[in-house]
Amino acid sequence: MQESIPDALIDALRTARKVAVLTGAGVSAESGVPTFREAQTGLWAQYDPQELATPSAFRRNPRLVWEWYAWRRDLVTQAQPNPGHLALALMEQLVPEFTLITQNVDGLHARAGSQHVVELHGNILRTKCSADSRLVTDWPPTDEVPPRCPHCGSYLRPDVVWFGENLPYEALATAVADARACDVFLAVGTSAIVQPAASLPLEALQAGAITVEINPQTTPLSRHVAFVLTGPAGEILPQLVQTVWPEAPVSGAAEIFT
Ligand code: OAD
Repeated sequence: MQESIPDALIDALRTARKVAVLTGAGVSAESGVPTFREAQTGLWAQYDPQELATPSAFRRNPRLVWEWYAWRRDLVTQAQPNPGHLALALMEQLVPEFTLITQNVDGLHARAGSQHVVELHGNILRTKCSADSRLVTDWPPTDEVPPRCPHCGSYLRPDVVWFGENLPYEALATAVADARACDVFLAVGTSAIVQPAASLPLEALQAGAITVEINPQTTPLSRHVAFVLTGPAGEILPQLVQTVWPEAPVSGAAEIFT
């Protein structure tokens, strides 16, 4: 657990009108969802995500890509939001204007109760037509893998951003605007490598926000931010919320303090 939260950060969060948070795979690590750049666990250990999460991989081997995402979808469906997700959902209630921007596609922030989540990289629980990106919620039973779009017959694919694809315009525009307008920006559980998400903390910094990184490791962002809270998000976020807003009923922090 982080030894203590700096007083200056406590004051900044208490007086902040606008807080923006960027999360990465690290915030779901304590829910048992593998991060990207740590060794892949289980059946897919021999695959490199960057070889699977691409349009060319899907063109080359649609069945393999579909099955990899089906495996990940099962994983996230069985996973539970952890105290880090819950603390962010609570923080949203405690701050006048709060934006949660996530690179994650696991849907765990929404399941934790976060109301306003900006999904930069899509959501693995949604399926779309590979030809026109129309969302498809159900399709006739079939043994074909991937299944086909009931409207045009093209293969279906997960509604996630693949390497080389553009991010959803609306989501990115909202994320950039909120990063530039916030008083405090938290970067949680991200290696701060993949663009354009990795630029958001720097946008906030340049616009004068107080920037914070929460991560057990250092990243390329660490030397730029005002505060580095070293440790797992599932411990630090509840501790942060409990310290800044003592009256808030933080779940996940109580166990730490009892
Ligand atoms: P990465 O796997 O690159 O980084 C995960 C980060 O989480 C690392 O910095 C870890 O140190 C940190 N971490 C691990 N456990 C943690 C914990 N318990 N609490 C807090 N942090 C922890 O994942 P991302 O940065 O999210 O994009 O990767 C960004 C994007 O790269 C992903 O969204 C995905 C991938 O390509 C697409 O699929 C388009």
